[in-house]
Amino acid sequence: MEIKTVGVVGCGLMGSGIAEVCARAGYQVIVREVNDQLLQKGLGRIQKSMSKGVSRGKLTQEEMDAAWARIKGTTDMADLAPCDLVIEAVIENMEVKKQVFAELDRLLAPHAIIASNTSSLCITEMAAVTQRPDKVLGIHFFNPVPVMPLIEFVRTILTSDETMQVAQQFAQSLGKTTVTAPDQPGFIVNRLLVPYLLDAVRIYEAGLASREDIDTAIKLGLNHPMGPLTLLDFVGLDTCLFIADAMYEEFKDPRYAAPPLLRRMVLAGHLGRKSGKGFYDYQ
Ligand code: 3HC
Repeated sequence: MEIKTVGVVGCGLMGSGIAEVCARAGYQVIVREVNDQLLQKGLGRIQKSMSKGVSRGKLTQEEMDAAWARIKGTTDMADLAPCDLVIEAVIENMEVKKQVFAELDRLLAPHAIIASNTSSLCITEMAAVTQRPDKVLGIHFFNPVPVMPLIEFVRTILTSDETMQVAQQFAQSLGKTTVTAPDQPGFIVNRLLVPYLLDAVRIYEAGLASREDIDTAIKLGLNHPMGPLTLLDFVGLDTCLFIADAMYEEFKDPRYAAPPLLRRMVLAGHLGRKSGKGFYDYQ
């Protein structure tokens, strides 16, 4: 099966990044948002990111124009009907995701693959609302999508070998390296990352070190591009809390239990970069 047209449901931070890398790799892309305002915001984010890529010499202006011309935005799910692969990147809410999967299953051709970019929710539960569970998998990208070279595949006990092969070719065509993880919350990266981020909050909360020292220690001591509290702000405290809660719910392991400070910062609206304030101030 050859993928020509890729659908992306959701044009937020991840959806817009996924639409961008697919268009840059030569696919026709149809990206759907719930309303015109969110769609225009998402499309604007794609243009800004591609322009940054041009200014950094990652692609030429001509390549950007050609990629841009391959992207079509819509607010109508039915417009995704011609897609060979659809990647869902809507909010991390299982009921919303199941609705999207059921709707896509009704309108897509029988050969089409449906993937979720979820970072923690159960792919098998999404597959179960479709008539094509063998053609469902997780394709988990990392933020910022155009820069991060990894894709995690999440294979359920129902995903077929053929689906995995097609997904592998697709990921290669995007220039990404893949790893395969089982359908358990956190997959590989977040299973390791989340306890580390939670421990950084615990160290800060206990007053053992300043936020700057925690971040400097990891940046300079381990050569990470960002320290853990900066990374929490970058990913979004609400997103990290959501993943931690999903992991704790599944495994009941105290390593995944969110520290009180993290939950209170989310309740207070201190979500990190996106809200202008998290562990650091971005205003
Ligand atoms: N298109 C193409 N390339 C781009 C680009 C774009 N829009 N924007 C930046 N780049 C390139 C730059 O040209 C540069 O490439 P080079 O190294 O070849 O010169 C590289 O990306 C770095 O860009 P910048 O110099 O602008 O930025 P920084 O050096 O400050 O790095 C960063 C920014 C890439 C975000 C870096 O700080 C980083 O890697 N941070 C960690 C990010 C991370 O861990 N992400 C994963 C989060 S977890 C996740 O997503 C999973 C989820 O489930 C929670």
